[in-house]
Amino acid sequence: MKIKEILQNSPLPQAEIQILLSHVLEKDRSFLFANPDQNLAPEIINRLNKLLSRRAKNEPIQYILKSAKFYGLDFYVDKRVLIPRPETEELVSEAIKHFLQKPSRDHGKGFNPFPDTYRIIDVGTGSGNIAISLAKSLPKEVEIVAIDISPSALEVASYNARVHGVGERINLIQGNLLHPLRKNGSKASANLIVSNLPYISEHFYLALEADIKDHEPKLALVGGPTGLELYHRLFLEAKDVLKPGGKIIYELDGRIKSHTPRFT
Ligand SMILES: C[S@@+](CC[C@H](N)C(=O)[O-])C[C@H]1O[C@@H](n2cnc3c(N)ncnc32)[C@H](O)[C@@H]1O
Repeated sequence: MKIKEILQNSPLPQAEIQILLSHVLEKDRSFLFANPDQNLAPEIINRLNKLLSRRAKNEPIQYILKSAKFYGLDFYVDKRVLIPRPETEELVSEAIKHFLQKPSRDHGKGFNPFPDTYRIIDVGTGSGNIAISLAKSLPKEVEIVAIDISPSALEVASYNARVHGVGERINLIQGNLLHPLRKNGSKASANLIVSNLPYISEHFYLALEADIKDHEPKLALVGGPTGLELYHRLFLEAKDVLKPGGKIIYELDGRIKSHTPRFT
């Protein structure tokens, strides 16, 4: 069978079949258009058919390829973690803006031998996409702590942090919201909390499309009966963890409400 026949006869949207075929061929998508008449070996067709049958069961392409793009970086993903969404990139950009707006650490007096540490806490880190993007974008003096309640999500985050060369810079902690920090007695230590916690209600979850509901972890999607329970708890706990002037930047469905509260 030729490349063009596979593309023309696929029930999948063109973008999807092109991604899957170029994946099994280990070539760029441009290769498909440059070589439409190339005959495909039976072994390639076999491998493609396996991927197509997974996609037919609504498995997201990112899990099939074990890869998702976020903030210009490739992240390993599998069913242990939520697939990073493009809209979450805005949260990373906002966090970088907040860091850049911080008051000068030397208060205009020249070199300060004891600068305050700038500390960011990522709550619900999942694949580590937010924490790792921040570590790659900010100076290495910035301390980053990434918390998740799911030990298996943290395995993925740890792998991604190592692949991106920031394994030493991110302190990955298993725990519930900010409890691990309060337990350590490290009070009022954070300049910034970033968070994309689950915010879908139990009711809304039932209506989600199969790609999401049947494959992505429920623990990464549902925030409680109304969806907002985890954020309510996070805001209460944050008061003990944020330094004066600290901020929480978080993601919420725009249809619910979105703002960034300040604790001073
Ligand atoms: C919506 S996913 C976000 C993952 C990633 N930060 C992103 O933006 O793609 C939410 C994450 O929060 C974690 N989580 C759920 N409940 C939690 C809790 N009580 N404390 C800490 N993490 C929690 C889930 O395991 C999941 O990895």
